[in-house]
Amino acid sequence: MDRYVVFGNPIAHSKSPVLHSLFAEQTGQAMQYDTLLAPLDDFTGCATAFFTQGRGANVTVPFKEQAYRFAHQLSARALRAGAVNTLSKLADGRVLGDNTDGAGLVRDLTVNAGFSLKGKRILILGAGGAVRGALEPILAQGPASVTIANRTVEKAEQLAELFSDLGPVAASGFDWLREPVDLIINATSASLAGEVPPIASSLIEPGNTLCYDMMYGKEPTPFCAWATEHRAGQVMDGLGMLAEQAAEAFYLWRGVRPDTAPALVQLRRLLAL
Ligand code: ATR
Repeated sequence: MDRYVVFGNPIAHSKSPVLHSLFAEQTGQAMQYDTLLAPLDDFTGCATAFFTQGRGANVTVPFKEQAYRFAHQLSARALRAGAVNTLSKLADGRVLGDNTDGAGLVRDLTVNAGFSLKGKRILILGAGGAVRGALEPILAQGPASVTIANRTVEKAEQLAELFSDLGPVAASGFDWLREPVDLIINATSASLAGEVPPIASSLIEPGNTLCYDMMYGKEPTPFCAWATEHRAGQVMDGLGMLAEQAAEAFYLWRGVRPDTAPALVQLRRLLAL
């Protein structure tokens, strides 16, 4: 049976095995998908050993940059992202590195939520790896503007510079902004500390602005709760992005695109337990 894994450390709580098992069942693909706890000091050795037999892998924290270096060949979007979340063994035995995170986010917004990014004013909070992975697919949708706001402004400036050839992207501090936008994406890890990035509530246009948190949890994240309190038009957490990046990886490996809707229902149910 074709073998797939998700590499991470820690990895026990990963939802990827559930998602890919559901996709395999739904599409009738014979495959096995497990978690693989890679040692912090030897991702490369672990991945090399796996790929003597394995067909493909997902990669999560903290190995996405190491997976980028491990891959023999990179997709254009992985190159731009500077990180790899999906590895796929090619016919000649070499390993392709791809990044499906940004495509997953855009698909969750445009297909699942029916929110077109074209001509929209977009604010992204954070300037880490998650933002770097999302910028190319977002800019490809033709937004009116993308502002990257970060606690450490220099990091936002570096990202804006790196992607300026792809569209209208600018950097900012959190407290410099007042004018409403159409979409706010929270890609900071502030939620982990129970915090919301300190941005003005006037950035939300009540009944219009879509607020999206890349994080998710059993309860609404602090950012989602803040957005609801300020009457955002729509509030979403990152569970859909998780399902969509997985579906995109599954498509790369198997050439079949699974339906994420039933998987999302199941994930939401599991999360509530
Ligand atoms: P990821 O790969 O998830 O993007 P990362 O690269 O570690 O993770 O980036 C985390 C992001 O969350 C950064 O933008 C970080 O801001 P700094 O660049 O100033 O460190 C942001 N972040 C983390 N904790 C935060 C908090 N409490 N408030 C606001 N931003 C926070």
